[in-house]
Amino acid sequence: MEDVTIRSLSPKNEMNREIIVLGIESTAHTFGVGIASSQGKILANVNSIYVPRSDGLHPREMAEHHSKVAVRVLKEALETAEIKLEDVDGIAIALGPGMGPCLRIGATLARFLSLKFSKPLIPVNHAVAHVEIARLTTGFNDPLVVYVAGGNTMIIAYVEGRYRVFGETLDIPLGNCLDVFAREAGLGLPGTPKVEEIALRGEKYIRMPYVVKGQDLSFSGLLTYAIRLLKEGSYRLEDICYSLVETSYSMLVEVAERGLSHLNKREIALTGGVARSKILTDKLEKMALLHGALFKPVNPEYAGDNGAMIAYTGALAFAHGVRITIEESVIKPLWRLDEVDIPWRK
Ligand code: FE2
Repeated sequence: MEDVTIRSLSPKNEMNREIIVLGIESTAHTFGVGIASSQGKILANVNSIYVPRSDGLHPREMAEHHSKVAVRVLKEALETAEIKLEDVDGIAIALGPGMGPCLRIGATLARFLSLKFSKPLIPVNHAVAHVEIARLTTGFNDPLVVYVAGGNTMIIAYVEGRYRVFGETLDIPLGNCLDVFAREAGLGLPGTPKVEEIALRGEKYIRMPYVVKGQDLSFSGLLTYAIRLLKEGSYRLEDICYSLVETSYSMLVEVAERGLSHLNKREIALTGGVARSKILTDKLEKMALLHGALFKPVNPEYAGDNGAMIAYTGALAFAHGVRITIEESVIKPLWRLDEVDIPWRK
């Protein structure tokens, strides 16, 4: 994979004025365009989420959806913000991590807009954007960030110039574990809220594989076990959902708790699609309380993938001189957030 070189161009001048950036999100099932300022004003956040007709999300089908909705979403975002492309300072693009066919749609549109309107391109890491939108909407300055979604599960904290990972899944993400179980149980998508709804009616806890290795997590054995119980039919669906949710969320809260203690952070922010979960929010809140720490989830509007978080992170980066050329704007499907310098927090 080619590497993106990030250069700093006269950042001092840019830090002193409000920057307006248009951001494009297309890493997975969502195609989104946001417009935001470096001071944290969200001027537009328009998103179109691909919902599969049959089971599962296929990258090619998601990419087809993105290319169909791209122009409409872009126009709607500009109309909402009451701004013209000529008036934005830059075009931010989520170059990764994500699925190649999906990333390519957003990157192609970003390159086109950059060339046509002579606007600089700003590379944004999708996971960094989930962290920044959580910081913005919780008002926390230096939180431990619990990032849980269909595609990611990570415990993150800022240390020495970068966001570092203090625990993550070794196989499938937590959101994916619940989504796949929901599909197997015929509950449909989005799976996590449906599994939780049924879990609330559970009464009996069934012991399930609880796999925490140091600070890392593994959900694949837990998923296989839950699906086996479902197929055997000897337990109520309510009890299986309850046990699956209790086990997986407890694993996550355990590593978050150790991260909080080790790093001596005083705030915990929950971000990503699963941040809308009331059950997970309650568990993290209780844990934070035990440690005298503050807890908040990201604003629900920005929990799932969205264009606004890319625009806002792009504006922060642009204000600190981050930009790339068209030639450097290669997609990075496996781009980790700990590979990205965060000059706006230094
Ligand atoms: Fe995401």
